[in-house]
Amino acid sequence: MHIVTMNLTSDQQARAAQTYVEDKIDASKDCAQVLQDRDFRTRLDVNFATLYTIFIELYGHRGDSMDEIVNLISLVARSWLDRPVDLKNLDRERERDPEWYMSNKMLGGVCYVDRYAGDLAGVWAKIPYFKELGLTYLHLMPLFDCPEPLNDGGYAVTNYRKVMPSLGTIDQLKDLATELRRNNISLVLDMVFNHTSNEHEWAKQAAAGNREYSDYYWIFPDRTIPDAFESTTREVFPDDHRGSFIRLPDGRWVWSTFYHFQWDLNYSNPAVFRAMAGELLFLSNLGIEVFRMDAVAFIWKQIHTRCESLPEAHKILRAFNCLCRIAAPLVVFKSEAIVHPDEVVGYIDRKECHLSYNPLQMALTWEALATRDTSMLSQALERRHNLPSGCGWVNYVRSHDDIGWTFSDDDAAELHMDGFSHRRFLNAFFVNRHPGSFARGIPFQDNPRTSDCRISGTTASLAGLESAQEGALERILLVYSIAMSTGGIPLIYLGDEVGVLNDYSYIDEPSHAHDSRWVHRPVYPADRYALRTNPTTLPGRVFAGITALIQLRKSTPELASGRLDCFYTANKHVLGYEKKSQHGIVLCLANFSDHPALVSRDRFAALQGVVEDLITGHMLDVSGDGIQLRAHQFVWLRFENSTLN
Ligand code: GLC
Repeated sequence: MHIVTMNLTSDQQARAAQTYVEDKIDASKDCAQVLQDRDFRTRLDVNFATLYTIFIELYGHRGDSMDEIVNLISLVARSWLDRPVDLKNLDRERERDPEWYMSNKMLGGVCYVDRYAGDLAGVWAKIPYFKELGLTYLHLMPLFDCPEPLNDGGYAVTNYRKVMPSLGTIDQLKDLATELRRNNISLVLDMVFNHTSNEHEWAKQAAAGNREYSDYYWIFPDRTIPDAFESTTREVFPDDHRGSFIRLPDGRWVWSTFYHFQWDLNYSNPAVFRAMAGELLFLSNLGIEVFRMDAVAFIWKQIHTRCESLPEAHKILRAFNCLCRIAAPLVVFKSEAIVHPDEVVGYIDRKECHLSYNPLQMALTWEALATRDTSMLSQALERRHNLPSGCGWVNYVRSHDDIGWTFSDDDAAELHMDGFSHRRFLNAFFVNRHPGSFARGIPFQDNPRTSDCRISGTTASLAGLESAQEGALERILLVYSIAMSTGGIPLIYLGDEVGVLNDYSYIDEPSHAHDSRWVHRPVYPADRYALRTNPTTLPGRVFAGITALIQLRKSTPELASGRLDCFYTANKHVLGYEKKSQHGIVLCLANFSDHPALVSRDRFAALQGVVEDLITGHMLDVSGDGIQLRAHQFVWLRFENSTLN
């Protein structure tokens, strides 16, 4: 059956297709009743045409595309029928308040279940601490079944419906999601959908030569097509293998962007889309509220292209998003696209990913610390910060991954900088191969052939706490102050709030030794947490500083997600930006220099009088000599509407 009829408009085609699909669903006694459900009906009516259009664009050339749509909508219907009532209630609530994640009250935390809390029960036991900190968003690193010991920190999934036995069970995960929700914390999990483990059942079948499952992956009998692909793709994990393919024991070649044990799924096969849609909806029904859509840039491949951020990758995401709008509308996507800034923004749209990591701001915050020059960061805030309405950044200082210098070379050139040599400088600086560096980072995927390299290290070690350099504490608070005040959801890598340092013991762990990212994934630093309320200790001072920022942010509505305007300070050491609300403006200034810096009086010509610095609670007279900032000092100045000209 094919709906395409020359005389019908695309709307009419979609409507005809919907009728066809509904008839089929009506006929299946399994989900017929779903069409009587008012919520489901409305959401299907709103979203079907989009889904259908994408589906036909991606798979319409195949004879079975209508059957595939029927199968897909049946899956969605089944999932809705299985959805727990409390989640359906929250679905409605979130539809009434669709921008809930834009609030200044949002605060994210991320951790590995095993390393931070032992297991899921351990995470549950930490809920009181999460509340003390003010978390409203908890990202648990991948926790599904995966091979031991090589699993890329859980990103090599063998079963999306089974929790790693050492961590707990799927029922415990569901209960934990409910308990977190009761405490106002949204559970965030990865949707690792670009690849599976080579030990996933599909992969095992494919390796054994099963035709159906071989089509789930990109498998070729010889090097002809892999060679053609590799002439335009880049190496992502060159320490592991060259190129994008690895050889199977039977001589065939399979696509593997990351580690050789992670095989890329083939989304040009609609069966793969449907299979992963099933996993996504299953997890949504456990109460996962935000999915971190892993490695989004890589999900579609096309010969003679870079195979990154292709238009079809966006369509796949939109189609997944549409499925959630029908059967799990509270679900929000966050994209993990650590690529060129032009591409990062391409994923951010309420129809695609509502949220996105902000890798540019993250990397350039470190860049500004190294150079003591805020020009690049300021340029990025000015031209790359503002997002489509209803979308927000997740602002992080560092994650479980490396730091890559993903800025645009064209942007750098405008500031008379050469991207290539600047990256070399930054790599040298952060691995302490530059005279006077305070950072103690470790290279990650250092590729001498391309000179590509990224940086591993905890916030505290990169900021100078490990090397015991002057200003380390101030630098930690400075970088977190940026993440807390530029809007978006600030995301703390848990442990950073007590200044956790690099953990070099990964070298002694054979399954980790080859991957320097483990240096910044230490186990729960119990000793540092024990000191967190003692202000005479370094962990205590870091904790006091970060928690003060959190509280301040939560009581400052201007700092919610949304527009940011740059404030030109005329001093390259000092970053300036304004966040507005209907009440007034908060002007943030941050001195990245190791010395005092002045923002002169004329910069405040448009702003008058005495204002409050929310950070210190002191009143400042901006019509005096201007504002003098200490080394690494930052201020958040609130101008009421009445103090503005
Ligand atoms: C994402 C994860 C990273 C992982 C990769 C492959 O980039 O953040 O940790 O290695 O995907 O799954």
